[in-house]
Amino acid sequence: MRPTAALLLSANALLSASCVNGLAEEVFAAIDKQDDGLRTVNKEIWENPELGYQEVHAHKTLTDFLEEQGFNITRSAYNISTAFRAEYASGEGRAVSFNSEYDALPGIGHACGHNLIATIGVAAAIGVKEALQNQGVSGKVVLIGTPAEESLGGKIKLLEAGAYDGLDCSLMAHPGNKAYASYGRTLASWRANVTWSGEASHAAAAPFMGRNALDGFVSAYTSTGLYRQQLMATDRIHHVIQGASDMVANIIPDFVDSVWGVRGHSRPRAEQVREQLYRILYASSNATNTTIDITPFQDYWDQNPSFQLASEYHRLQMEHLNPLEDAETSNFTVVAPEDDSGEASASSDQGNVSWFLPAIQVGFPVGGTAPVHNAGFRELAGTDFAHQQAIKTAKVLALTGLQVLQNETFAKAMWEEWEQMIEEISVGLS
Ligand SMILES: *[C@@H]1O[C@H](CO)[C@@H](O)[C@H](O)[C@H]1NC(C)=O
Ligand SMILES: *[C@@H]1O[C@H](CO)[C@@H](O)[C@H](O)[C@H]1NC(C)=O
Ligand SMILES: *[C@@H]1O[C@H](CO)[C@@H](O)[C@H](O)[C@H]1NC(C)=O
Ligand SMILES: *[C@@H]1O[C@H](CO)[C@@H](O)[C@H](O)[C@H]1NC(C)=O
Ligand SMILES: *[C@@H]1O[C@H](CO)[C@@H](O)[C@H](O)[C@H]1NC(C)=O
Ligand SMILES: *[C@@H]1O[C@H](CO)[C@@H](O)[C@H](O)[C@H]1NC(C)=O
Ligand SMILES: *[C@@H]1O[C@H](CO)[C@@H](O)[C@H](O)[C@H]1NC(C)=O
Ligand SMILES: *[C@@H]1O[C@H](CO)[C@@H](O)[C@H](O)[C@H]1NC(C)=O
Ligand SMILES: [Zn+2]
Ligand SMILES: [Zn+2]
Repeated sequence: MRPTAALLLSANALLSASCVNGLAEEVFAAIDKQDDGLRTVNKEIWENPELGYQEVHAHKTLTDFLEEQGFNITRSAYNISTAFRAEYASGEGRAVSFNSEYDALPGIGHACGHNLIATIGVAAAIGVKEALQNQGVSGKVVLIGTPAEESLGGKIKLLEAGAYDGLDCSLMAHPGNKAYASYGRTLASWRANVTWSGEASHAAAAPFMGRNALDGFVSAYTSTGLYRQQLMATDRIHHVIQGASDMVANIIPDFVDSVWGVRGHSRPRAEQVREQLYRILYASSNATNTTIDITPFQDYWDQNPSFQLASEYHRLQMEHLNPLEDAETSNFTVVAPEDDSGEASASSDQGNVSWFLPAIQVGFPVGGTAPVHNAGFRELAGTDFAHQQAIKTAKVLALTGLQVLQNETFAKAMWEEWEQMIEEISVGLS
């Protein structure tokens, strides 16, 4: 039998002294009960790496499992074939959301550990669902399946399609080596395809008839190398060749296709670096009399976490699953939000989400020394230890979400703080 609204209200009032803490046991038990299934989902995704927007197997694995768990599922949500939305609601109230990512990298599989991110989203949603279904909490939990994080910006398409409308927060996590970090900023990131087109000719008989596309690329590559002296520590420029005309030594190369990335601490800074890069690129074309073509395809905004959500996550973690009290993880580091330098290194399409509603992307360790985007990290992301860390992270994320659902004061303060932050970081933006 479902409790009446009046009963629910009084129950909530009674619980309000320690509402979230009071539910931790039930929430953790609900997640633990599904651990075998969660381990299988994790393994299925890890063993079958798929690139952005091609995550067909991950999409099926996740949505089938979520359906078995009793969520309302929309497969291929928002007309994106590998996106999904899973929902569970009980009564009126706020809506908490989690993200599952599941795209892999070319050649090195799940070397960013998105199999763990996918698992955490599902586990956290199961935790909140328990509170909604059996513990008298009202509101809604939404799990968004967000494809193509690595470069094609699945969450940006989802934002534009309205996937985050009406939600109160977006919670997710990302694996790393050694640290538990609840407040992680990320850099603003811009990326473009850049091609140089020239004229082929015999490299010995008629080099003066050629226009060298490789020289165009090398000229720009060299100029960015020189420009690095003027960069700030948090700026990034990186570039690779992704295609070219047949490279033989006796033909002047007439085509190079490359990708260029620019990142900065904030959007204005990334824009400034990008402006200088444009000068460098045009100059390289001019210097080699080749034609240049610049086609941008990525614009991830900097991620600005909700300090209040990060602080609550940290508090709940230390109270319920303090990693320093666990022999297996006592030699890792826990970085409190107030001790985080705020210096970001990577980027994420969750950056865009953080400008739309209060959001966090907490970090958790899988150990080892192989860095993300290294084949060694793929191995670290596939271990039982990594899975256990993911489950612990999901438990604390679920409790954080429950604080948003249950605590009106908390939710109000979270939104106010977020609005003020957005106002502050928008100064100077066009
Ligand atoms: C869905 O996407 C397909 C191609 O990806 C497009 O042709 C179609 O018009 C879209 N439908 C809607 C309703 O947006
Ligand atoms: C599932 O969706 C149906 C149809 O929209 C709705 O009536 C029902 O309340 C939903 N169930 C849950 C648990 O959210
Ligand atoms: C290219 O070089 C010419 C000088 O030969 C200069 O006048 C022109 O401004 C340059 N264009 C660009 C885009 O750098
Ligand atoms: C640059 O290339 C064009 C052909 O695209 C050619 O007409 C022109 O003479 C070249 N300029 C120089 C300075 O070689
Ligand atoms: C960038 O280049 C890649 C590889 O050629 C291609 O698949 C992709 O469609 C290009 N993106 C854009 C926006 O042109
Ligand atoms: C996110 O990114 C796109 C560019 O890719 C931008 O146009 C959009 O306004 C950004 N912000 C939000 C909050 O979606
Ligand atoms: C922590 O200790 C374990 C063994 O107790 C070891 O395997 C692991 O590498 C250590 N991790 C760090 C970050 O020092
Ligand atoms: C509710 O949130 C407020 C503001 O963050 C906090 O002071 C209070 O302790 C919270 N109540 C519970 C029961 O967690
Ligand atoms: Zn990655
Ligand atoms: Zn990643």
